Amino acid sequence: MNILVTGGAGFIGSHIVDQLIAKGHQVIIIDNLVTGQTDLINPQAVFYQEDITNAEQVNKIIQQHQIQVICHQAAQLDVRKSVQDPQYDAQVNIIGTINLFEAAHKNGVKKVVFASSGGAIYGDTDILPTPETHPTDPISPYGIAKLVMEKYAHYYKTIYNIDYTALRYSNVYGPRQNTQGEAGVIAIFASRMLENKEVFINGDGENTRDFVFVQDVVDANIAALTGDIVGAYNVGTSIQSTINQVFDIIHNLSNSNVDKKHIEAKLGEQKHSSLSYDKLQESINWTPKTDLESGLQQTVEWFRG
Ligand SMILES: NC(=O)c1ccc[n+]([C@@H]2O[C@H](COP(=O)([O-])OP(=O)(O)OC[C@H]3O[C@@H](n4cnc5c(N)ncnc54)[C@H](O)[C@@H]3O)[C@@H](O)[C@H]2O)c1
Repeated sequence: MNILVTGGAGFIGSHIVDQLIAKGHQVIIIDNLVTGQTDLINPQAVFYQEDITNAEQVNKIIQQHQIQVICHQAAQLDVRKSVQDPQYDAQVNIIGTINLFEAAHKNGVKKVVFASSGGAIYGDTDILPTPETHPTDPISPYGIAKLVMEKYAHYYKTIYNIDYTALRYSNVYGPRQNTQGEAGVIAIFASRMLENKEVFINGDGENTRDFVFVQDVVDANIAALTGDIVGAYNVGTSIQSTINQVFDIIHNLSNSNVDKKHIEAKLGEQKHSSLSYDKLQESINWTPKTDLESGLQQTVEWFRG
């Protein structure tokens, strides 16, 4: 198939591109390199350094390459930035997504699979692991944008019959993750510990997250791109791990002797989160294959270089 991967020079997108190429697909990448890196771009892919907010260029690329399916990973994904600059967040995450769907329906694209976000969409919740049926009450412009993307996807399915899968990721980690972003607590811990730099933990470190390994997220994307599931699906492990646990495992794996320093908890930060993956398991038999210990081992090895 001819597949467009937006954000294909980024952490998750570049892993998806590699897997699609290994499976024999023709892959086209659109990425503006705002956080993506050229050395992550698979040389067998056709790469366009382009912005998804540029509707004309997006349409031209989709038309020229006769794209059949789109895997949309490009995003403004910094929650704090979305609070500081909601217009920019909406421009990239909402308008950029509309540009893709508009080009999709004009050029006969069959399906769009895109990265949504479990944590950001459900907001604070006591129901853990959280199922897809949970009310969506995002408390950031980023979360609102991800939810709006899902609503647009439903609209394009209803009116133009473009299939879609919204994959609501939990906290994704693994090799290639950027250490600059706020999402990458594991990437930050691993790189700092390997450099023997002090590690800071917000609050007491007993807050939990659902850490899912990038290869499992790739598998969910490939299954969604080639299968026939339509709608929103969580991609997580249903397991809650504390930040302190993550620190201890990485500390051990990296043979580090750096200390952790607890600093003030971030205001409004979610205390606990984990996503139920029952829906994805029941529909396509997806389950997370990599446990935290072995995923962290692969991550630390990659950061060791
Ligand atoms: N990493 C996580 O834990 C996590 C959790 C939930 C959802 N997500 C979603 O997964 C997707 C991929 O995230 P990632 O962790 O790989 O981040 P990333 O920053 O590594 O990848 C995003 C890519 O999109 C590109 N990009 C950003 N704005 C663009 C624009 N306007 N035009 C073209 N390209 C643009 C960046 O250059 C980058 O290569 C995002 O949609 C994100 O919202 C990630």
